[in-house]
Amino acid sequence: MTIIAPSILSADFARLGEEVRDAEKHGADWIHIDIMDGQYVPNLTFGPPIVAAIRPYTKLPFDVHLMVHSPENLFADLVKAGADRITVHAEACVHLHRTVHAIRELGLKAGVALNPHTPLSVLDYVLDDLDLVLIMTVNPGFGGQSFIPAMQGKIRALRDELDRRGRSGTHIEVDGGINGETAALVAQAGANALVAGNYIFGHPDRSSAISTLRASAQI
Ligand code: DX5
Ligand code: ZN
Repeated sequence: MTIIAPSILSADFARLGEEVRDAEKHGADWIHIDIMDGQYVPNLTFGPPIVAAIRPYTKLPFDVHLMVHSPENLFADLVKAGADRITVHAEACVHLHRTVHAIRELGLKAGVALNPHTPLSVLDYVLDDLDLVLIMTVNPGFGGQSFIPAMQGKIRALRDELDRRGRSGTHIEVDGGINGETAALVAQAGANALVAGNYIFGHPDRSSAISTLRASAQI
């Protein structure tokens, strides 16, 4: 079954705890948390103290997407804050293999995100160590951007490679421009975890937004 991960980047920051509770109530599977440092991406959000503050509002896993340089500096605080999975950007890590293993050694699920221009081949020697690959379907930094259609081929190629390696349990998550239409495209290509910010938090009926995503991804 497809995992639906609302991105709180599009939630009301003044009421983040309630927004997270609301996402759970309306059928979300994970809470997607975008941490940006204003350097790796041209936008700034929040850090581990905010993650800790919203932790009591839901039992759902916290799927933390780090759009920061030197992400390892945040790992210990994120564990304390209640993160369940941490995804780092391949482009932001000088020693990606070491960084992935540092996440695993803390007992968390490890993911790597790839920007639209980054080839899948950067994962050749870490793919077997990952629980999740995050294919960015927009350039990271902002919610509400348009899906990049060329990413469908990238998702398909990754799904084929995971199958070839006998690792079909590794999640392929997509992030950016996901809505009722693009959910079908990425699911057909092989994605099984959908992040959606604007589509869910901007929707007048969040239950229906989440069920539409689920239904569109049914293949
Ligand atoms: C973008 C973030 C996304 C963002 C997606 O850099 O990683 O998680 O919230 O927003 P939408 O779904 O609105 O494109
Ligand atoms: Zn994200």
